[in-house]
Amino acid sequence: MSLITSFPATTFMPIQATEIAKEVDLLYAFLLVSSLISFVILIGGMTWFLIKFKRTTDEQKSAYITHNNFAEFMWSFIPLIILLVIFYWGMVIFEKLRVPPTDVAAEIHVTAEQWAWTYKYANGKEFYSSGNDPLIVPAGKATKLVLTSKDVIHSFYVPAFRTKQDAVPGRYSQLWFQPTLPGEFIVFCTEYCGTKHSGMMIKIKALPAEEYAAWYHAEKKGADTPADKGKVLFAQKACASCHSIDGTKIVGPTMKGLYENKRKFVDGSEAKADENYLRESILVSSAKVVEGYPPAMPLFQGQLSDEEVEHLIEYIKTIK
Ligand code: CUA
Repeated sequence: MSLITSFPATTFMPIQATEIAKEVDLLYAFLLVSSLISFVILIGGMTWFLIKFKRTTDEQKSAYITHNNFAEFMWSFIPLIILLVIFYWGMVIFEKLRVPPTDVAAEIHVTAEQWAWTYKYANGKEFYSSGNDPLIVPAGKATKLVLTSKDVIHSFYVPAFRTKQDAVPGRYSQLWFQPTLPGEFIVFCTEYCGTKHSGMMIKIKALPAEEYAAWYHAEKKGADTPADKGKVLFAQKACASCHSIDGTKIVGPTMKGLYENKRKFVDGSEAKADENYLRESILVSSAKVVEGYPPAMPLFQGQLSDEEVEHLIEYIKTIK
């Protein structure tokens, strides 16, 4: 049951598998058509003038041409308006592409490495794919990917969704999409990452929502979730001796309701406690010291693996 056929490809473009893809293509078509019209007016007009106003007599050749204020204003002003429209239009689409909706149905951690991807689901399901296992997501619902890399920079590009995002070592980036219908869609790595860069291709498989739910809850291979592993680490690393999980103030700030919360720092700056903030604060807590607390936390850089940091963050995200 290949459903790819339910998305007709347009003349120039891959299939449009999200609503945003249609908007991106419309803007692209506008750019193409307005460029074509400008080209015809500009080059056509120039050619026509060359022929019509060719100077032949000596009198014509020595004539001095002054300027025309109105014409000069219009050929600057009209393109300015068109460019501003393109800018605003692009900005609106860009924002939709970058900001995930609040009701995300699936959050999947995607780790890139030379030359494969690993997907980790919130319930502990985990796949390593150098091309065969597809990344399974629900169709008709929003999926958010949290991307990072183990080695060099890679980039996760889904042509059918018209979206891409770099996977950078040492930090998290995010990408979201909502496939309109079930189907299989190709993912390319679009950042040159070594010998097998071009082979770093996988597929996203969007399943109907009920099928996805059944797949998601099916046999878990007894694995702990990343958050479960984080909870164990939280105890092992004695995090709890300084950070409460119930809102009580001990030595350091509580972990309760921390994720996505606004933090105020001793230097007066502010930041939202997203994945990157949590990562930095776990590894090098002195980078941003929360107002009202001493800079007492030891350095964990080099003490925790990327995976352990990820598990801790997933645990902290559950403490609400
Ligand atoms: Cu990974 Cu290119």
